[in-house]
Parts: sequence; structure tokens; C-alpha cells
Amino acid sequence: MQTSTAQTGTRPTRTQVAIIGAGPAGLLLGRLLERRGIDTVILERRSPDYVLSRIRAGVIEPGAVELLEKAGVAERLHKEGLIHDGTELMFDGDRLRIDFAALTGRSVTVYGQTEVTRDLMDARADSGAVSIYEAEDVSLHDFETDRPKVRYVQDGVTHEIACDVIAGCDGFHGVARASLPDSALKTFERVYPFGWLGILTDRPPVAEELIYAHHARGFALCSMRSPTRSRYYVQVASDERVEDWSDDRFWDELRQRLDPETAERLQTGPSIEKSIAPLRSFVAEPLRFGRLFLAGDAAHIVPPTGAKGLNLAASDVGYLADALLEFFLDRSSAGLDAYSARALARIWKAERFSWWMTSLLHVFPETDTFGRRIQRAEFDYLAGSPAAQRVLAENYVGLPM
Ligand code: APR
Ligand code: PHB
Repeated sequence: MQTSTAQTGTRPTRTQVAIIGAGPAGLLLGRLLERRGIDTVILERRSPDYVLSRIRAGVIEPGAVELLEKAGVAERLHKEGLIHDGTELMFDGDRLRIDFAALTGRSVTVYGQTEVTRDLMDARADSGAVSIYEAEDVSLHDFETDRPKVRYVQDGVTHEIACDVIAGCDGFHGVARASLPDSALKTFERVYPFGWLGILTDRPPVAEELIYAHHARGFALCSMRSPTRSRYYVQVASDERVEDWSDDRFWDELRQRLDPETAERLQTGPSIEKSIAPLRSFVAEPLRFGRLFLAGDAAHIVPPTGAKGLNLAASDVGYLADALLEFFLDRSSAGLDAYSARALARIWKAERFSWWMTSLLHVFPETDTFGRRIQRAEFDYLAGSPAAQRVLAENYVGLPM
């Protein structure tokens, strides 16, 4: 497991790219740069174990798989990941399979985000690249100049790292975006009036592929991590508390939202993780401020319905890594100048798709009978239109980068 370099006594005072955050975005960016000889330091406020304890979506687009291959960390993903050629939609018990492979010629890989993070973390540790975990009070300075720096506190001592570029990969609640004056940013947000209560259990999945279900009681999702570990979600009101949901109450609610055959087949077991995640759509513009660049959840949030969070972080990082390599190796700023607009073009299309899937499949408290009929009509149109199914499929497997 990666240990903080600070614990081994060597502390960097300079690097080319200071990366804030050791989640998928920060770690992938570090790998793509290190493999081309660019020096990076990652500052992460949590411990490695804490970062790995986060349970997140596990659907990887082919484009993100290619980036992980480029980063040299796709071996276990190819060995253990599950290839899915399609997914099922269920609407009040009616079922519709979306055949990604037939409609787009592409498939997705089901492989937990925790495993992606672990593979990236292990590769970085093996490379000897510097990661400083449990870095407190990270602060960003002078990024509007060509001599930016970052500071952090460890064991009560403040340390400073001079750099050429700062990459804000520190998630929605991070310090990078928060370091910007409000006037520098435009933000766009929609907070949904519900959350997802998720459960992880060591039982075989209820089906070979994922099932996204709409029911009058609310949305449900049947997913998985492996042939022996399943992940399930039910939509709950925003003010629900996880302590009010026993395992039995969860399983009963999930069964009510599935068709009888699937409910009958469901293998329930004790939860090894249970939590509620809020749903929001969020985008910050632009993504570049002098020598500071935002990527991943630091720049945007999508509701998990379209499984876009990790994949969007990966595409941001793919664009940013190319631009930084051009800057350092070809001495050209063209890529950096184009990064924000290029990433945002793809981000907004993923935001649209995630919002659409969420609008189709969830019960909105304020929706009237007309609105519910429109949701039903949307599903019926999908069921009868290969063209509509192809639109869903090409967005789900990921638009071209
Ligand atoms: N200083 C240092 N590190 C920080 C700070 C800070 N002030 N604030 C946050 N971090 C760290 C977090 O502890 C976390 O490990 O930044 C990391 C950000 O990682 P993520 O939140 O996972 O964001 P990202 O890497 O962009 O990955 C996006 O993660 O949240 C999911 O659904 C999302 O799948 C998507 C993926
Ligand atoms: C998951 O397995 O956690 C998962 C899968 C697909 C989604 C969201 C979450 O759209």
C-alpha cells in the first residue's frame, strides 16, 4: 500500500505538476504524466485506506479502459472485469434490453471504482512517484502567475512545493475550486429531491446485466461488483437516514420495485456496506485559471444514473494529460489553452444524458399525472424505436473523446 513519502523523510520542494487529490482523477493524471517523464506530486488529505473505503459506481466505458491501458494499470481490470454487452430497463414491470454491442459495436466493463483506484495507487507506489497522504490544510498560491505553489501542513509543520502547474483533482468538496474568487466561476446546478440508498452484499447478482427500474414507489438499480458480490440501490427521499433502513426493510422495498420474476430470484444477504448518496447535477465553468486546471468531480457532478462520474473524470484527465505533455515536451500552450472548452463540450453532453436517464427513471414528488404519462411515453417510445435505443446506447457506452 502506498505510504506517504513524508513518512520516509524526503519532502519535495519542487515539481512540475502538483496534483491535489488521490482519487481516480488525480491518480490517473499522475500515471499518464509520469509514464512520459513528467514529475508530479500528489497531495491527498485522507489516508490511502480511507480513499479505498469509498464505494462508488463500477461501469467503465471503453474510452476510459483505453486510458487505463495507456496508464499501464488495466491488467487486473481485463482479468477480473465483467464485459457487459447491454443493460435492462424496467418500467412498472415491463422490461426492455438495450443491446449496446448490436447498437454501437461497443460494450462496457463492470469493475469497481475502488479497484480502479487501488490499481492506480499500487502503480504509483511502484513507480516511486511522490504522494503525500494525510496532507492537511492544502492551499494554492500564485496560480495566476507562471510560478504557482502549493502549501500543506503535516505534523504541525507547514511545507511548500513550487510547481509549474496545479491540477485540482480534489472532488466536489475540494480546495481547488474553492480557491477561486466567485467572480472567476460560473456554476450550474440542479439538486434532485431524492437520494440513492445503496447496499453491498456478498451474494450472486440477480441478473447477468444491470437492471435500471422505474416503479411508482421509486427508482431501483440492480448492479454488481463480481459474480459473488452485488450492489443494489433504491431511490429514497432526501431527508431519509440510513440508520432507519434495516437490511430487511431494504430488501423488501427493492423486491416491491422489481417485476415478480426478478424479485423471486433475488438472493438477499447481510449488508457489508450501506449508505445514502445525494443526487445533483453540477458544472463549474471555466476549468482553467492561469496555471490551475480543474478535472473530475472538482469540475462537475452527475447523478449516478448514467454511470458517468468516473468516466467523465477519466476523459477530463485524458484531455488534460495530453495538453500538459504538449506544454512540457513540445513547449506549446495550445492544448492548455483549449482544455477547458474541449472538456466542457464532453462534460455537458454527459450531464444531459445523466439528467435524461434520471428524469426517465425516478419518481419526482412534484410531477403531476401528466408528467408521469410523459415518462411512460418516453419508455414506450424507447421500446418501439431502435433509433431511440441507439441514442441511449451510444451515450451509455460513452461518446467519442
Ligand atoms: N486537500 C487534499 N485532498 C483533498 C482535498 C483537499 N482540500 N479535498 C478533497 N481531497 C481529496 C479527497 O479526499 C479525494 O480522495 O481529493 C480526492 C477527490 O477524489 P474524488 O472525490 O473521487 O473525485 P475524482 O478523483 O474526480 O473522481 C471522480 O469519484 O466521486 C466519484 O462519482 C465520482 O466516480 C466519480 C469519481
Ligand atoms: C454501481 O454498480 O454502483 C452503479 C452502476 C451503474 C450506475 C450507478 C452505480 O449507473
